[in-house]
Amino acid sequence: MCRVCGGTVHQFFDFGRQPLSDMFLGPGDLEHEFFFRLAVGICESCTMTQLMDEVARDRMFHDAYPYHSSGSVHMRRHFEQTANRFLDTHLSGRGPDPFIVEIGCNDGVMLRTLGKAGVRHLGVEPSGGVADLARANGVRVRTDFFEEPTAADIVAEEGTADLIYAANTICHIPYIGSIFRGVDALLAPDGAFVFEDPYLGDILDRTTFDQIYDEHFFFFTVRSVQAVAARHGFEVVDVERLPVHGGEVRYTITRRGTRTPTAAVAELADLERARGLGTREAFDPFAADIERIRHELVTLLRGLAAEGKRVVGYGATAKSATVTNYCGIGPELISFVCDATPAKHGKLMPGSHIPVRPGEALADPYPDYAVLFAWNHAEEIMAKERAFHEAGGRWILYVPEVHIV
Ligand code: SAH
Ligand code: TYD
Ligand code: ZN
Repeated sequence: MCRVCGGTVHQFFDFGRQPLSDMFLGPGDLEHEFFFRLAVGICESCTMTQLMDEVARDRMFHDAYPYHSSGSVHMRRHFEQTANRFLDTHLSGRGPDPFIVEIGCNDGVMLRTLGKAGVRHLGVEPSGGVADLARANGVRVRTDFFEEPTAADIVAEEGTADLIYAANTICHIPYIGSIFRGVDALLAPDGAFVFEDPYLGDILDRTTFDQIYDEHFFFFTVRSVQAVAARHGFEVVDVERLPVHGGEVRYTITRRGTRTPTAAVAELADLERARGLGTREAFDPFAADIERIRHELVTLLRGLAAEGKRVVGYGATAKSATVTNYCGIGPELISFVCDATPAKHGKLMPGSHIPVRPGEALADPYPDYAVLFAWNHAEEIMAKERAFHEAGGRWILYVPEVHIV
């Protein structure tokens, strides 16, 4: 049943049994590894694309949650620019003491800039480990899930918020009705709710099927966000396409009737309508492309293994769990994955059990090929690892199609 409107969700792809994408395993964890069915569908009543099955939130977001937002220089810059933009827009001209709440602040990658600027702020972050990192960055954090009761507490303790912001977090939250009711309780009458998440249009255009994993519950479009906002007395008043994580949209949402929507909102919604993005049929080519990529990637990796080539992975991303497990890729095809996140080192990748090693392992010695699982950071990583390419190493990418660089 649709988590927005209660309508029927029509499944369009089933990845089968999948592990938790951010559950990196120690040797003792292998017996009780958790699996669920990863399948995705669309509700044609409200146009929301969503997972068919939901994983309990405490299994995913806990003290050992390993994803650190500050791991990419490019993303640090993106969030610093975002914070500075808010200083000039939503947080300016709102009295002497504007207040911003961020849902899913992670290690404080965005709020640290506002904290330094002396802006009153609060991050709401259920994953204790990354919340502590945010505190070390001078950010005020409530270790909690944002939802309606949390919002009621915050407004009682600190008053209304001028801006509520979330990046790559609202799409993680199946109980989106409670989020909107919480925003309604916490947001000042003329405040704004701004969030950015991977855009379904870009996912289909680039066949980035690995954006589909346990944590990504919703795949937003302007129209589906309009549908959920409208149910709670809000409307989308601006949209902006962002070049991060393979293509995202930033939605600006206010109470209905408080602001005139920009032309960009209707333009993107019209484009979505024209390409049938709210219907099952829109996914037919996508499903065929996913199967083709699986076939080509597995064929390539088996061929390289047969030739005795050394192949590793780069970036132990959540996305890579979908790729390795759906394609049946294990240590026999990719000997290890290197990643800069200390919490992932010495662990095994979920489901595939490929070992994770530090970034320096790439050069020890350089392999013949590296599968770029962190393709969304391609520019940054390829620049950092130029010596690998100069030494004759080649990158394997699998989106938008399998190719070697
Ligand atoms: N904003 C960061 C982090 C994205 S990862 C960035 O863009 O890089 C998603 C984060 O959402 C995780 O840190 C997770 O712990 C957090 N999260 C999940 N459910 C949440 C909820 N209900 N309220 C607040 N944060 C939540
Ligand atoms: P990312 O693609 O941002 O997200 P997700 O896990 O949600 O798919 O993850 C990037 C991963 O790649 C993260 O584990 C850190 C790692 N990484 C490196 O090891 N080196 C780098 O230079 C960068 C940018 C990322
Ligand atoms: Zn629906």
